[in-house]
Amino acid sequence: MLLCTTPAEMTAACRALRVQERGLSAPEHAPTLGLVPTMGALHAGHLSLVTTARAQCDLVAASIFVNPTQFGPGEDFTRYPRTFDADCAQLESAGVDILFAPSAETMYPSGNATFVDPGPIAERLDGASRPGHFRGVATIVTRLFSIVQPDRAYFGQKDAAQVAVLRQITRDLNLPVELFVCPTVRESDGLAMSSRNRYLSPAERLRARVLYRALSAARELAESGQSLSDRPDADTLRAAMLNALDLPDPSPEAGAIPIRLDYAAVVDPDTLLPLTDTSRGALLAIAAFVGATRLIDNILLPPRSV
Ligand code: PAJ
Repeated sequence: MLLCTTPAEMTAACRALRVQERGLSAPEHAPTLGLVPTMGALHAGHLSLVTTARAQCDLVAASIFVNPTQFGPGEDFTRYPRTFDADCAQLESAGVDILFAPSAETMYPSGNATFVDPGPIAERLDGASRPGHFRGVATIVTRLFSIVQPDRAYFGQKDAAQVAVLRQITRDLNLPVELFVCPTVRESDGLAMSSRNRYLSPAERLRARVLYRALSAARELAESGQSLSDRPDADTLRAAMLNALDLPDPSPEAGAIPIRLDYAAVVDPDTLLPLTDTSRGALLAIAAFVGATRLIDNILLPPRSV
């Protein structure tokens, strides 16, 4: 696995890899390059994106960059887990050809002033409680696209609002990249894998299962009707989530851990705007603090089949 630490080096190395790959395959076949952007502290969720990219593309690039502009003041930027050596080993064994791991000073030298502003969508869901977050994400992902110039880029459904923002900017800016969204990878008890799960104490880790329990309760209700007109509306599904979040925790150790809800929402997966009718598909999404750790999770309800 090649390692590049500056944008110029990465762009040149990606071009050289494409030329080399073209020489190895039939000359009429233009090799495809897939990009998996990450902030490191890798787990099986990240690696599932790499595995999918490996299966679909001739060349796979990954990036590790804890992007300061997507963290707000008082958020966990300085203490975000950094496990670079272990990450490199995992990416290499998952078949990554080239890794981009720049420093913050390289990506944001003095004078760097251009941002990508996604507009109102950036103020919905996580954007409402994390002002500036999606502007930071949109900016860094646009720049990674311009540095790597991938044919496809791989993101997780775990960050559903991020997916909606990135789909919008890719469309609005005509970025020549195809976005591919991979399913959320979960622990055996349902908790969505996240780099932030390592902040949780054992009791908080048990308490954190309530997010997926609440989403699953709403999904069960959504799937319980027999016909198109039976699917409960958004308010009913939201009430099911809130009700499950309020139930006493089945585990005695976890019972004392407070949950502070940020949002429980039923929205249009593309615009992130609230919905009433859910029969054409809906995103069920929750963000909550478990102790001091903010966790997010979601379930995508497909359009109701008749
Ligand atoms: P990070 O949180 O490191 O996540 C990198 C990618 O892994 C994202 O696309 C995220 O949705 C995906 N991912 C995380 N947990 C997952 C899980 N349990 N199952 C499936 N996919 C999962 O998201 C970011 O970094 C940053 O915002 C980034 C896009 C890199 C821009 O800085």
